[in-house]
Amino acid sequence: LSAQNKLTLNFDDANIKIEKEIYGHFSEHLGTCIYEGIYVGEDSDIPNINGYRTDVVEALKELKVPVLRWPGGCFADTYHWKDGIGPKEDRPSIVNVFWGGVTEDNSFGTHEFLNFCELIGTEPYLSINVGSGTVQEARDWVEYVTSSNESPMTALRKKNGREEPWDVKFWGIGNENWGCGGDMAPDYYANIFRNFSSYIRGDNFQKVICGPSEGDTNWTEKILETLDNKTYLAQGISLHYYTLPTKDWSSKGSSTDFGEEMWFKTIKNTMVIEDYIQQHLAIMDKYDPDKKIKLMVDEWGTWYDKLPDTKEGFLQQQNTLRDALVAGINLNIFNNHADRISMANVAQIVNVLQSVIRTNGAQMVKTPTYYAFQLYNVHQDALLIPTTLETEKYEFDGESIPGLTASASEKDGVVNITITNANPEKAMPVNFDLGKSFKNISGKIVSAKNITDYNDFGEKEQVMIQDFEVAKAKGNNLNVEIPAHSIVLMQLQ
Ligand code: AHR
Repeated sequence: LSAQNKLTLNFDDANIKIEKEIYGHFSEHLGTCIYEGIYVGEDSDIPNINGYRTDVVEALKELKVPVLRWPGGCFADTYHWKDGIGPKEDRPSIVNVFWGGVTEDNSFGTHEFLNFCELIGTEPYLSINVGSGTVQEARDWVEYVTSSNESPMTALRKKNGREEPWDVKFWGIGNENWGCGGDMAPDYYANIFRNFSSYIRGDNFQKVICGPSEGDTNWTEKILETLDNKTYLAQGISLHYYTLPTKDWSSKGSSTDFGEEMWFKTIKNTMVIEDYIQQHLAIMDKYDPDKKIKLMVDEWGTWYDKLPDTKEGFLQQQNTLRDALVAGINLNIFNNHADRISMANVAQIVNVLQSVIRTNGAQMVKTPTYYAFQLYNVHQDALLIPTTLETEKYEFDGESIPGLTASASEKDGVVNITITNANPEKAMPVNFDLGKSFKNISGKIVSAKNITDYNDFGEKEQVMIQDFEVAKAKGNNLNVEIPAHSIVLMQLQ
């Protein structure tokens, strides 16, 4: 076997937990993510539990979603939470100005979201309106949702049918305030953040400052500079990064119709996030040397041209094996940064961008990304085993990127290794230096015949998790061939 690909497990350096929230999701009032995708209302013909689609609830429970962000996105900084509580017939409508200009009836509001989180067993992450909202409105939301005091807000909550407060730990203070969230300058936003954050109070709250997009280090530098010695006001700083095959927002590339060139570019533009993460962490280290503020990649995923015949602003795209690879690569990168990355949220959970679920009327499919997440779930709250990876390059048209990515962790006596092979044609023989010997080794794989394969409504699944045969280890040594265009999980005991 070639000695070029080698993964070494460094058990001696294992002392960091992979926070389960790295496997988080994002749900915005956008297209058919909330209405149709999650919520159809109690009177719908589509089977539902209190208005939530039964098929989606079951699929998400099975996926073990650790955290769900809501209500946006750009929508969040237009959202007034008081319009989404109380009797539904009395709720005013809202025009979704960023996404399709559609009029929404506010039937899915704070209660509906937080009860949904309880139903699927996930932690809520609420995104506060900073762009067009007030500090008082935000303070009232916190009181309404989390307080057990006697107060006008808790009385209102009880009147609306919820006696006990909900458990909400994660609070995003604004979204993309450098863009759709108010087009603010970094020092202006950072001062507003300081103001909001001092009124967003509660036990163990994790308050997230709006961080940069992609490699915008100027934003990171300026907001941290303006926070000055008040770093205790933020427990997280967000990062948004979307993978566009072309890197051109006016023509991003098709989600279904692509060859090796677009495949290569998509993988390459995904791997760039490693550089962005390192650049932002270096600045964060400067202003927060105790590393108390974590990086939270609260929007990531692929963003392609919309599917033909779908509505403008609804961001509907197909999800192929390529998306599973993108997920596997990103999640390996996040795992390996578990010392500083404490949360990540793929955009978005249903029907929008790189979703894990797609629906069409009463039909539903689990996408290749769903299966990538399911394969990787073993890493949630596990102990990171740092790894050293030597990998062959994947070359295309004079350019080259690493062929493999990997991460490893240990939980309940099982060591889990996830590894991606982005080469569309070539299986990669890998030598594993395990550091100790294991009696039982088993494998699972997400792959498909073609790189463009996807799961379609009413059809047999093309991309899912299958068993993967792994040869026996010789002492601490194991040789495995990772198939072309695949992600593999190996479990060692
Ligand atoms: O996820 C879609 C959009 O992408 C979000 O609303 C916004 O925050 C980002 O630009």
